[in-house]
Amino acid sequence: MKSINEIRSTFIDFFVKAGHRHVASSPLVPANDPTLMFTNAGMVQFKDIFTGKEKRDYLRAATSQKCVRAGGKHNDLDNVGYTARHHTFFEMLGNFSFGDYFKDTAIELAWNLITKDFGLPKDKLLVTVYHEDEEAAGYWKKIAGLSDDRIIRIATSDNFWAMGDTGPCGPCSEIFYDHGPDIWGGPPGSAEEDGDRFIEIWNLVFMQFEQSADGSRVNLPKPSIDTGMGLERVSAVLQGVHNNYDTDLFRALIEASAHATGTDPDGPMIASHRVIADHLRASSFLIADGVMPSNEGRGNVLRRIMRRAMRHAQLLGAKDPLMFRLVPALIKQMGVAYPELIRAEALITETLKLEETRFKQTLERGLKLLDDEVEKLGDGQALPGDVAFKLYDTYGFPLDLTQDALRAKDIAVDVDGFNTAMAHQKAEARKAWAGSGEAATDLVWYEMKEEVGATEFLGYETEEAEAKVVGLVVDGQRVDSAAPGTKVALVTNQTPFYGESGGQMGDTGMLRGPGYAIAVTDTQKKLGLHIHLGTVEGGTVKVGDSLHLTVDGGRRGRLRANHSATHLLHRALRDVLGPHVTQKGSLVAEDKLRFDISHPKALSDEEIAAVEAEVNGEIRGNAAAVTRLMTPDEAIKQGALALFGEKYGDEVRVVSMGSSGEEGTFSVELCGGTHVSRTGDIAVFKIVSEAAVSAGVRRIEALTGAAALQYMHDEEVLLKKAAAALKASPAELPDRVASLLEERKRLERELAEAKKKLATGGGSGNAMAPVDVAGVKVIAKKLDGVNPKDLRGLVDETKQQIGSGIVAFVAVNDGKAALVVGVTEDLTAKFSAVDLIRLGVTAVGGKGGGGRPDMAQAGGPEGDKADAALDAIVKAIAA
Ligand code: ALA
Repeated sequence: MKSINEIRSTFIDFFVKAGHRHVASSPLVPANDPTLMFTNAGMVQFKDIFTGKEKRDYLRAATSQKCVRAGGKHNDLDNVGYTARHHTFFEMLGNFSFGDYFKDTAIELAWNLITKDFGLPKDKLLVTVYHEDEEAAGYWKKIAGLSDDRIIRIATSDNFWAMGDTGPCGPCSEIFYDHGPDIWGGPPGSAEEDGDRFIEIWNLVFMQFEQSADGSRVNLPKPSIDTGMGLERVSAVLQGVHNNYDTDLFRALIEASAHATGTDPDGPMIASHRVIADHLRASSFLIADGVMPSNEGRGNVLRRIMRRAMRHAQLLGAKDPLMFRLVPALIKQMGVAYPELIRAEALITETLKLEETRFKQTLERGLKLLDDEVEKLGDGQALPGDVAFKLYDTYGFPLDLTQDALRAKDIAVDVDGFNTAMAHQKAEARKAWAGSGEAATDLVWYEMKEEVGATEFLGYETEEAEAKVVGLVVDGQRVDSAAPGTKVALVTNQTPFYGESGGQMGDTGMLRGPGYAIAVTDTQKKLGLHIHLGTVEGGTVKVGDSLHLTVDGGRRGRLRANHSATHLLHRALRDVLGPHVTQKGSLVAEDKLRFDISHPKALSDEEIAAVEAEVNGEIRGNAAAVTRLMTPDEAIKQGALALFGEKYGDEVRVVSMGSSGEEGTFSVELCGGTHVSRTGDIAVFKIVSEAAVSAGVRRIEALTGAAALQYMHDEEVLLKKAAAALKASPAELPDRVASLLEERKRLERELAEAKKKLATGGGSGNAMAPVDVAGVKVIAKKLDGVNPKDLRGLVDETKQQIGSGIVAFVAVNDGKAALVVGVTEDLTAKFSAVDLIRLGVTAVGGKGGGGRPDMAQAGGPEGDKADAALDAIVKAIAA
């Protein structure tokens, strides 16, 4: 008997031998389709090749594709556990022809594989074709030799396959296996077709059309082939069991679940074991592909699946979280085929454990409430909608969990009542919000959020994605479309663009829609909406359009490095300066990072050097940056440093980074930002400034990567230029500059002395001989080039030289006159220096003048009248 792993390989090997490229499964979150919640078929990753938008270097491919059918079109969640073949997660084996072979070869390959390599008996097989597809019927007759009664024509959409509401589609032909008359059921198309006797194992789609949103279809450039065979179903057939959950892989998971709970794997709890096995696969694969439990979008579907499984774990009597303990069993079964499970093992385990731990208490309380309410119900009565809503709102019970819990008792839920209660709560919240004083302009965002839900952020995983326009705002008003040249604020259902928050600037990049482009200059985040800002160019953008979104990757890379460096800086500052350091603000920009901290004084050069050394040491250590979701309490327990000004919900992202040996992780912070994969991606870290912002708060600015190198290069160039100008080496520069300054001071002193001497007659005294004015010795002179500061000293000296008399000096500098008058002590009774200076200063256009009778000084703007000033003083003495 072939194991599931062997069946998968047999399929792939068969098609590789037939000239197909073995292509790896694409992630569960489709990168190229905004309309799909999860990859739900093998063809999803090839969609653009079918439509001719993309070319690859192969025309034939084979895959085993991870698929999830829960939420959106093709939702199997409700039935899982209770039927033989429903799964939320399953593997689809498929072969594809991109305009290469068509119906005949597809039928021939399929027939050969199942009858020869898989060895299924021909008389157990029958097929369906679309009722108009005589061509396919003819091939089945010719190639497989099937008789007419084994080729069933179906007129319904069952035999016309479409990926979703839009995208490639075409008529299809399905291969069925007949389990024989012992099992109830009729062939496809009959009244008993829902029975289990005839099981579809393979769907061959003859891709011919592309469907648009308005329902119209256009031909694909070339007819192509897309096939899908559920690995679980075909394995059941090949392993001779009727129920997918009895195949080897599921058996192993169910036994692990039974073992962990000490229950019988085949007893009355079989449905719970099956739910757990299925949901363990879906949850683990979704987490490995970057989906995290949340209350919106994909994360919400994941949460519903996880919580549904938890209720069944509770039914099995599990006292402690169960799901996370089953991860090793899953990895043992599927880790070789899907190595992403091995890579993400820690993340899967932690995420499951966290959700289980958090939900466990409310689950128990909610189930108790549910029991009490069920007691009150009369026969055939449905559970009232408001009770289901209370379970949802207060106890975190997804509606499908409540429905699932009542299923065994055959009690329905009043879903309309549930929806009414939900709508009522939203209306109340809106009223409360409108009354809370928020700006009226924000109402537009509030309403949009209510209508379209939070934007799903894909940017932790990817910088490029497809998305649908769900909201447009022009000049603060909601609009349905915007013409070229309009400045728009545009919201999509999902986006790789980071909206400015937590100090990190929003992303920039390009949005491309049908016939137009929008260069995004900024992305803002409001109420969970990521708002892309830009101007429409080339065509009209409409709500509902599909866009291709590309983040400016170079810029994002720099933002990531700066953000991660900020975390390292924060920790290093606490190490170097002390634990009193807390974050007071942060800006993560493309070209630099800025970080404000509480610290009472300037950082010394040594402290800055120590901080830089610590951060750069972590960068060289090149340890991984790891992001986990946990409760705020747990995060704090792990030593997370809370971020400034952020509001935290039930769960927080915890970013851990770097490693300093025995101490373990270097930095642990709560953070929603985007980060490097390894610290080495930061390359280098340099602090470029440190200053005060307010009392007790210091601001540090720093650079990373190429910007840091450029900065250091520029500094070096400056240093070299300065050194060259002084004809010194950079190392000699400090001494050289110090001695130059010293020399300059000395020269200035000498120059002043020299000027003084020159002005006062070179010290000979001749030029300063006093004249006799009315019996008083007077020296009244204009001194060229003397510094006004030196005037008083000169007047003093001259007074001493003449012993008794009056000295008046004017110095003219830059056209302005400075005046000093001195009167020797013996004459102050007759002459006041203050009076004399007033006369002089008036002559040079000045006012006032201050001093004492023996010494006064003043100045005026009219330096050219210096002589007149002296004349006025001399005249006054003569009078
Ligand atoms: N895309 C086809 C399916 O999912 C093969 O059934």
